[in-house]
Amino acid sequence: MSNIVVFGSQWGDEGKGKIVDMLAQEVAAIVRFQGGNNAGHTLVVAGEKCVLHLIPSGILHPGKVCLIGNGVVLDPEVFLREVDSLAKKGVDVSPERLMISKKTHIILSYHRALDVAREGKLSGGAKIGTTGRGIGPCYEDKMHRCGIRAADLADPELLRDKIARAIEEKNVLFKNLYGAEEMDPEAVYQELLPIAERIRPYLADVSTAIQKAVDGGGTVLFEGAQGTQLDIDHGTYPFVTSSTTVSGNAASGSGCSPRMLERIIAIVKAYTTRVGGGPFPSELFDATGDYLQEKGGEFGATTGRKRRCGWLDMVVLRESVRLNGPTELAVTKLDVLSGLKELKICVAYEYKGQQVDYPPQEQNGMAFVTPVYETMPGWDEDITNVTSFAALPENARKYLVRMEELSGVPIGLVSVGPDRKQTFTRR
Ligand code: GDP
Ligand code: IMO
Ligand code: MG
Repeated sequence: MSNIVVFGSQWGDEGKGKIVDMLAQEVAAIVRFQGGNNAGHTLVVAGEKCVLHLIPSGILHPGKVCLIGNGVVLDPEVFLREVDSLAKKGVDVSPERLMISKKTHIILSYHRALDVAREGKLSGGAKIGTTGRGIGPCYEDKMHRCGIRAADLADPELLRDKIARAIEEKNVLFKNLYGAEEMDPEAVYQELLPIAERIRPYLADVSTAIQKAVDGGGTVLFEGAQGTQLDIDHGTYPFVTSSTTVSGNAASGSGCSPRMLERIIAIVKAYTTRVGGGPFPSELFDATGDYLQEKGGEFGATTGRKRRCGWLDMVVLRESVRLNGPTELAVTKLDVLSGLKELKICVAYEYKGQQVDYPPQEQNGMAFVTPVYETMPGWDEDITNVTSFAALPENARKYLVRMEELSGVPIGLVSVGPDRKQTFTRR
């Protein structure tokens, strides 16, 4: 068995949570390595739905170690809410199997407030449409070297001092730029103390825990959040999230060697969605877009916003292949396409009078491309109970084969419904 990386190949919400939950039974440990509770990963087991924002999507499998890596930004209140809600369902969330890296950066109220204030000041098309969870400001503090790390929660004096320093600067912005209320560092500190107390038992050396799992003969599953087009460097900047979402970050975001990353799975939705602002070349504004949105239940798992929907974009997927090096694709939500007369696949863009195979790299270049489509016949059959590639309607098989041809990567898994069981292997 190999270690596995699961990453989003589009704009997030590809169905990573479902696939991680499904693969978790084969591994010893599951690690989140970037992002925070901007993520919403949905698992459906025997008809029961569970949305996870921070805790790795392997938590429903008893005995599996779930790790939150240093590359994550963790809102401690959200973490504890998630812990409590899982515990209520009888899931073991004890620190013996659930750990937070001491190096993980902590999201506090001033990060959330700054996120909301910044978005509030942007207008119209300039709005990023962040989740308002304080993700960007927390990563900024990390890079600015004034962030609060999980280990600081066990050191009250250091914590008080660091909060005071971090808020001092933010208050200048709140007061003078955003017309928002200033924050009292002492109040933030006092509010945090009981939360810190509850977090402390979960603090661990995640890097060593990963090594231990591997030394014990087990394998590790690295669970990505967001998607490649939301990557801070490679995505549709500035309409991106603030972390490195590509597969390579599984190593540095969790504290292991890149040589550990073996089986790399690109999660690909059979069409495309995006939530929030920013360019989306294959977006549909017609009845087909509405059809995908409704049939696919395309509402954000974190903010409840309607997801924008469009055709499969192979320009985006090819770039994803180049950046992430997947050994296989896992295609999700194929069932949602049932009932469409014909399907379009974006195979190239027209950009500045030329046909291009990759997204332009200029800021917002993606907003000025025209998609070039290939059309394929659709299928009518309900495929939600199909359990093998061979049993799919011919046109569905052709659609998948075309994805393999255009991406140059074999499909490993196909998902035809939200339930853990509605998945089969390609070969
Ligand atoms: P993630 O953020 O990548 O984990 O994806 P989300 O959980 O945000 O969004 C994916 C949504 O699609 C969830 O509601 C899943 O339950 C659902 N889903 C996943 N795979 C399939 C599938 O093959 N078919 C259908 N119909 N729904 C799916
Ligand atoms: P999962 O892991 C889809 C989007 C937001 C916004 C942009 C920046 O469920 O696939 P942020 O709050 O991160 O600063 O917002 O990124 N975004 C996501 N879109 N799925 C996600 O996560 C996302 N996480 C952030 O909508 O456009
Ligand atoms: Mg999601």
